Amino acid sequence: MSKILVTGATGHLGKAIVEALLKKTSSTRIHVLVRDAAKAADLIAKGVTVHEGNYDDHASLVNAFKGINKVYMVSGNELHKRIQQHYNVVDAAVEAGVKHLVYTSFQRKNETETSPIQLVAETHLKTEEKIKSSGLIYTILEHGIYADMIPIFAGAHLLENHTIYLPAGNGKTAYAVRNDQAEAGAIILLDESGKYDNESIELAGPEAVSWGQVADIIKDITGKPIVYVAPPVDEFNAALRAAHVPDEVIGLMAAFSKAADVGEFDNVNNVMEVILGRKCITLAAYLQQVYTSK
Ligand SMILES: NC(=O)c1ccc[n+]([C@@H]2O[C@H](COP(=O)([O-])OP(=O)(O)OC[C@H]3O[C@@H](n4cnc5c(N)ncnc54)[C@H](OP(=O)(O)O)[C@@H]3O)[C@@H](O)[C@H]2O)c1
Repeated sequence: MSKILVTGATGHLGKAIVEALLKKTSSTRIHVLVRDAAKAADLIAKGVTVHEGNYDDHASLVNAFKGINKVYMVSGNELHKRIQQHYNVVDAAVEAGVKHLVYTSFQRKNETETSPIQLVAETHLKTEEKIKSSGLIYTILEHGIYADMIPIFAGAHLLENHTIYLPAGNGKTAYAVRNDQAEAGAIILLDESGKYDNESIELAGPEAVSWGQVADIIKDITGKPIVYVAPPVDEFNAALRAAHVPDEVIGLMAAFSKAADVGEFDNVNNVMEVILGRKCITLAAYLQQVYTSK
């Protein structure tokens, strides 16, 4: 049976994909690329083959990819370095004889430099171009925003301060739960029919909600008077700076909020449900689990 390799397997998404694969196929087919094998002891115990490697180190990537048919590349998380890192992964996949590359890209409407999340968008778009011209069979997964980002954007102290404070206006987002994204990725990796070959697939959730609606859902779940306040961006930046939040974090929060405000992530679709063969986890069910375990 063909061998599959997942990168970033000590991170949230990569680990979830490996867990989804383990439920569907033999561990002997599953390989992972990690920076530190000690962090993957749980995967080794489950029979997964662990390769140490780094997106910065071409030779380590080629070594890991030898004999692998399909690679699932989790995009890197160092924004300023990741275009070159992604190029390294693509080049190594070609050199090692990998057949098919699956890449985690992003949901969008605006592909120009006017995108509110241009910094992030550019890295994905350049990677997509590189993959498409590599000669590899590819599947580009345009991931919508994970529901798992809501507790992070809403803040760790939401149940005490009761306020979601973001410059996202009334824009809506078609959130999808990361574990659903991971399971869809596993199904695509295991598919042998070729139906996902050379496709870009938008994977978003089946309903789009505003931050006001998110606040209402959390209010209903917790019984606490949660509200959403949408300040102008300048006011938001100043407030977070006064609270000593790092500039890079403020910039990303403001950019993603602005993108949500202009509807960059509001396309709903049922593609993920078709791939999964079941309904997606609902936002209410996901938030219920998060906010009742706090
Ligand atoms: N759509 C969304 O809402 C959304 C939200 C968050 C993230 N994302 C995207 O999904 C990606 C993964 O997210 P995540 O939550 O799984 O992130 P994460 O938990 O930070 O995991 C990133 C993984 O990549 C590995 N990695 C980072 N740099 C590497 C390098 N130079 N060489 C080899 N491996 C490297 C990390 O290894 P270590 O364990 O050694 O650090 C980690 O396993 C992000 O980069 C981002 O593009 C999308």
